[in-house]
Amino acid sequence: IVSNSYDSPSHDRSNFPTGFIFGTTSSAYQYEGAANEGGRGPSIWDTFTQKFPDKIQDQSSGMVAVDSYHRYKEDVSTMKEIGFDAYRFSISWSRLLPRGSLSGGVNQEGITYYNNLINELLSKGLQPFVTLFHWDLPQALEEAYGGFLNRRIVLDFQDYAELCYREYGDRVKHWITLNEPLTYANQGYANGAFAPGRCSKWFSPNCTGGDSGTEPYIVGHNMLLAHAAAVQVYRDKYQISQEGEIGLSLNSPWIVPLSESYADHIAASRALAFMYDWFLEPLNFGYYPYEMVILVQERLPQFSIQQSMMLKGSYDFIGINYYSANYATDVPCKSENLSYLTDPCVNLTSERNGIPIGQKAASDWLYVYPRGIQDILLYTKYKYNDPVIYITENGIDELNSNTISLEDNFRIDYYTSHLSFVRNAITNGVNVKGYFAWSLLDNFEWSNGYSVRFGIVYVDFKDGLKRYPKISAIWFKEFFS
Ligand code: BG6
Repeated sequence: IVSNSYDSPSHDRSNFPTGFIFGTTSSAYQYEGAANEGGRGPSIWDTFTQKFPDKIQDQSSGMVAVDSYHRYKEDVSTMKEIGFDAYRFSISWSRLLPRGSLSGGVNQEGITYYNNLINELLSKGLQPFVTLFHWDLPQALEEAYGGFLNRRIVLDFQDYAELCYREYGDRVKHWITLNEPLTYANQGYANGAFAPGRCSKWFSPNCTGGDSGTEPYIVGHNMLLAHAAAVQVYRDKYQISQEGEIGLSLNSPWIVPLSESYADHIAASRALAFMYDWFLEPLNFGYYPYEMVILVQERLPQFSIQQSMMLKGSYDFIGINYYSANYATDVPCKSENLSYLTDPCVNLTSERNGIPIGQKAASDWLYVYPRGIQDILLYTKYKYNDPVIYITENGIDELNSNTISLEDNFRIDYYTSHLSFVRNAITNGVNVKGYFAWSLLDNFEWSNGYSVRFGIVYVDFKDGLKRYPKISAIWFKEFFS
């Protein structure tokens, strides 16, 4: 029986098991900047922000971002000063391989940058958790063959992953192949809000072409195969000597049935099937959830027997990115304008009888629902044979204001309540080994640009990107001491 509330908030890390890892997360496009420096090739996010400035709330981009390409030492010191144990960051594929593939040449300056970052972390006692793909695909691969729409991506991703193991695997012991394949497939190919900005013409004229009824599934499929190929080469050639672990980060809002009706309960599990089990069932059983097979039919790609075998068990841990929750209600299925967005025959909402599911944050999709983190952890444990789990992202944002504001009590409440529910899950037997906050710094938040702030450290975008700890950073420092 699982608690619906948390008792006294966990005010220090002693409530967590020995060896439990606390860190923060970032991603290359959101943090690094230096887009045209150090031999980096363009990524689809450079192109997308240039081509569709209006799809970014403040028409900004990650050209400069928070300049962690130049300021990583200062930021690593801040992490150390607060007391974190680890840092999850992503490698910019086009910084290592400006043309995307090995045949286009390796950029030595890029290799050196991540060597420096990793060495800086280790010298301060912080463990690197490295994501290989956090959405910034080399533009060259998008142009050459349509990126993740094409099966050719699998080999290019495998080569890129192997380059990373070879260069950094002596020091990196935690690899995350993909960040949120759901978001990449959905936002990139169903609603077109993120790069490469594809969606069906009937859905929006403001897309680069596409078909939301087929492309998200093809992209999801190729992402799974690329993940499995990257894991295979790690296990075959590197894992034993380098003694590391490999997994991927998945996300989903937690889903609550809108009403007590049977139909809404089934709708809630259908919604989870289309967002979360979409990846976890193939990774565990080698096939897609039956809800997807039935509803998507011939538009859903199939795995060969060999691919299923490669997928099954292709992780040492699962990363979960959790932020928010939705209500689900059953709606009739559509027979025209088929789309990933409507295939589940579910309507997702944030309110029940006019009452929001939780306090709304600055981003319009983010509602505070702390027990959802416990529920998704328990769901994962019981459905997928008790895997090792890291919470690889969790956090909340505020609106950008024109003045420096460091009083983020709402963020302290968010972390307190979510950490307490993570602790509850651990008490209930979930094998959670670590927790990463999104994020250390305010940064480029994709379609929100710089209009929202997720950092525990404030970045003054008007004054030289100076950093100022918010009170939530001080709260974390006290939590660790
Ligand atoms: C996660 C992503 O889904 O959400 C992060 O992995 C992102 O990269 C975070 O920054 C917050 O989302 P958004 O869309 O508000 O930037």
